Amino acid sequence: SSEFKIIAIDGGAAVGKSSTSKGLAERLDLMHVDTGAHYRTITFALLATGASPEDDLQDTLAALDLKTHLDRRTARLCIDGRVPTEVEIRSPEVNASVSKFAAIPAVRQSLFEYQRNQANVGREEGFRGLIMEGRDIGSIIFPDAQHRFFLEADEATRAARRAKEGQTDSIADRDKMDKARKTAPLVCPEGAIRVDTGPRSLEEVIEHIINLIGTGNTSD
Ligand code: CDP
Ligand code: CDP
Repeated sequence: SSEFKIIAIDGGAAVGKSSTSKGLAERLDLMHVDTGAHYRTITFALLATGASPEDDLQDTLAALDLKTHLDRRTARLCIDGRVPTEVEIRSPEVNASVSKFAAIPAVRQSLFEYQRNQANVGREEGFRGLIMEGRDIGSIIFPDAQHRFFLEADEATRAARRAKEGQTDSIADRDKMDKARKTAPLVCPEGAIRVDTGPRSLEEVIEHIINLIGTGNTSD
């Protein structure tokens, strides 16, 4: 059909969301949106203004100019005319405070419309659909997505994967905060298909998801 296809990929830290989503976007020729990068980018911008999660952020957030910069099939968040680098958004400082900022309703509110609107950006750019990864995509941003997946892996495997990337990042602490918050907590969306990435290679996860999409058996 000519319907714009939306694939939602949720899960905790280092379960394989980004590598799986990038691979799927290539294989299925879709636009790719990493909402974790959105929260990291906004955290980087807020920290640069000297803001802390305890502050009243309404005015600072309202003043931010959010645009999309399309890098081939990857849609990146451009704040006040600049896309921060990977090194900037994956720094120890951002790792340590991103979940605190992401728990603030005003911060989530400032990204809600922007993220919903990525479907229009994808259409305008001529894509047939998009794949969006995060914590609340199948539950809050696109609860009506045609395909919704929840990736999981045991904690030892996830910690080993992150360590292998040389990252200082307490993923267990972030997951705990992300699950415990009141607004848009990390949950397996109702009707989403759970995929265990622990025993599977990246290629096996991608193949598995493509097979599930092919059978049409991916929601409710
Ligand atoms: O790469 P990793 O899985 O470690 O994290 P990420 O996807 O880059 O997300 C960083 C942080 O952003 C998460 O720990 C959440 O606090 C927040 N986040 C969120 O609250 N909602 C989303 N849809 C995506 C990320
Ligand atoms: O985006 P998220 O934090 O959920 O995970 P990621 O950055 O895609 O993956 C974390 C690490 O696990 C990367 O180094 C991937 O190459 C690796 N990975 C893996 O070893 N096996 C998989 N099935 C998926 C990812």
